[in-house]
Amino acid sequence: MHTPTLKYGFVGAGFIARFQLAALGQVRGIDVAGVTAVKGAPEFARLAADSGLGDTRVFESVEELTKHVDCVVICAPNYARVEIVEAIVGAVKAGAQLKGVICEKPLGRNVAEARRLVELARSADLRTAYFENQIFMKPVRAQLAQLEPVRRQMGPLALARSAEEHGGPHEGWFWDPTRQGGGVLCDMGCHSIAVGWHVLTPTGKPLTFLEPQEVTADLGLLKWGLPAWREKLLKDRGVDYAKTPAEDFATGMITFRNPETGQLVKAQFTNSWMFEKQGLRLLMDGMGPGYAFEINTLLSPLNLFIGDVAADAIKDAETALEKSTASRGLLAVQHNEADLYGYTDENADALEAFSNGRDALLPWSYGLEITRLVMAAYMSAERKRVVDLTDAATLRELETYVPLIQQGRGAGQLYGSGGMAAGRSRPPGGA
Ligand SMILES: NC(=O)c1ccc[n+]([C@@H]2O[C@H](COP(=O)([O-])OP(=O)(O)OC[C@H]3O[C@@H](n4cnc5c(N)ncnc54)[C@H](O)[C@@H]3O)[C@@H](O)[C@H]2O)c1
Repeated sequence: MHTPTLKYGFVGAGFIARFQLAALGQVRGIDVAGVTAVKGAPEFARLAADSGLGDTRVFESVEELTKHVDCVVICAPNYARVEIVEAIVGAVKAGAQLKGVICEKPLGRNVAEARRLVELARSADLRTAYFENQIFMKPVRAQLAQLEPVRRQMGPLALARSAEEHGGPHEGWFWDPTRQGGGVLCDMGCHSIAVGWHVLTPTGKPLTFLEPQEVTADLGLLKWGLPAWREKLLKDRGVDYAKTPAEDFATGMITFRNPETGQLVKAQFTNSWMFEKQGLRLLMDGMGPGYAFEINTLLSPLNLFIGDVAADAIKDAETALEKSTASRGLLAVQHNEADLYGYTDENADALEAFSNGRDALLPWSYGLEITRLVMAAYMSAERKRVVDLTDAATLRELETYVPLIQQGRGAGQLYGSGGMAAGRSRPPGGA
């Protein structure tokens, strides 16, 4: 069978763009034809070419890139989303022929931004993909397939719990709530909320079939607000959590209603940047009547042990695991993270959909729904109350709501009425 070819053009050449290259090596039919970025485009182009993914050209602008590819892949920081999509849409309206456009999570820092992206894409009749990789994770899909007959007989899952945690992001802009959109809830809550909603959804029903009813959430600044860690953050990342803090811990619960049966089901999410284990962990489980599933990405079939005497020989612990924090002791290694985390299959889905003139499984309109739930969680934590998503006035308010933390005014919320913790905790090793 003929495999269609889609020419990708990357906007952004940083962490996730490079991770996507590892995924694309496992998908037939996608060429990396171009890249544009503020920093790192030439190195990225070389890496793509050396990986056999195409003759990757460096372009000076988003508009130029758009003219020369079939699909633009937005892997730039959250604060640049709107201007990038305006440039893509401008180029398309001026004649560029795009088959589709992909945007990494989160779609927007708030509902207004996410809605603007959806409207811009509609105005140019663009096919879209919102890259929420965790829905494509093979373990997630395998449990759904394996338990499908059980769910059919016993009834759907009633509770899903999803967590994504690591020790904190790799670039300063992620830590700055005004540029990123918040702290760990904006950055990683979008993943866990999406995957919770998805695994609860009965087989064969649309992504948004289960209707969100209410959200409760609680945020904390449990590690990076302590004096020694605040100083380290300022020194290493240039972000001052004494002035503009963001949450490093988030947890909450979303209640959904099945519109056919009236059954209420719940998705709990937990996210942190204060996770003290080998590296990134995705933990998901679900409970139905008489059955359950559990996924833990730190349980790998491959463990390494590296003793103190041998530890100096390690060059780069992150080759073992994303956001690795240790290079000795008993280490978990994931040999194919790009596939495990779902990057491979989200690209295969975009290729198939765009080649056939369709939106991908997760269109931008879905990304907007996830942004709404993330904002409802911020609202709940900020106001210390349940946010009712069946209330028209609340939904209207969410359209323009910008969390205090995102505005850079989160100190009162995160440090509490007593103000910032003083004194010393143990200074971070190697700081
Ligand atoms: N799905 C996932 O698991 C996942 C993981 C990491 C990041 N992400 C998302 O991907 C996006 C990028 O994150 P990252 O970790 O790669 O960031 P990064 O800081 O490592 O890289 C960002 C890249 O974008 C470039 N850039 C900055 N401003 C730009 C602009 N205006 N126009 C063009 N290029 C610009 C930078 O020069 C750099 O090459 C974020 O939205 C993030 O949320 C998703």
